[in-house]
Amino acid sequence: MDVCGLSGSTRLHGNTAALVNIVLDQCTAGGLSTNFVSLAGKEIQPCTGCEYCSTEHRCILEDDWEAVADMVIDAQVLVVGGPVYFYEVCGHLKNFIDRTYSLYHDKRLIGRHGVAIAVHADKGAERAIETLEAFLNTHQFAFIGSVIGRGFKAGDVLNDRRAVSEAERLGDAIVHLLRPND
Ligand SMILES: Cc1cc2nc3c(=O)[nH]c(=O)nc-3n(C[C@H](O)[C@H](O)[C@H](O)COP(=O)(O)O)c2cc1C
Repeated sequence: MDVCGLSGSTRLHGNTAALVNIVLDQCTAGGLSTNFVSLAGKEIQPCTGCEYCSTEHRCILEDDWEAVADMVIDAQVLVVGGPVYFYEVCGHLKNFIDRTYSLYHDKRLIGRHGVAIAVHADKGAERAIETLEAFLNTHQFAFIGSVIGRGFKAGDVLNDRRAVSEAERLGDAIVHLLRPND
């Protein structure tokens, strides 16, 4: 898989999913293979800090996390998006991120490229982007760029023309990265 788009929102058809999918649509138009996955409705338990993964190199918890993580592992580029809750990424996405500690010991994600997306109604997305950058940097992704979208009700972000065009531009950047000669 070329590109995995991950929405951390608990709204399946929310603003984060919309913005992530704009990047993916641009990638598909450029001839790349893409995969969209939403954490909505998925069980993602919090990391318990048990350190089982430090020695066994896998997470001991059993839920939906591993199937989503496998999609991230399988892709060359990750487009990760989160809704802003209290000036941060939502807890559901943070649980997913924390669980990737089990991929950290063997540097399972090293060398991939990443894009960060955050959607807020009004304020706080800068901090959420910092968190997403920290996640990508810790796993040694190369950072392509980020988009902040504005929207409250599901779908509002599509009226944020600046965010939509920035998402399209990042899609083009991914195509150029993976198909430099096209
Ligand atoms: C629990 C909760 C906390 C929120 N906190 C903030 C916030 O700190 N700043 C902000 O601008 N919007 C906040 N919002 C609004 C969401 O960021 C906004 O609705 C966003 O578009 C949700 O993205 P989604 O549709 O992808 O879920 C909050 C919404 C909820 C439900």
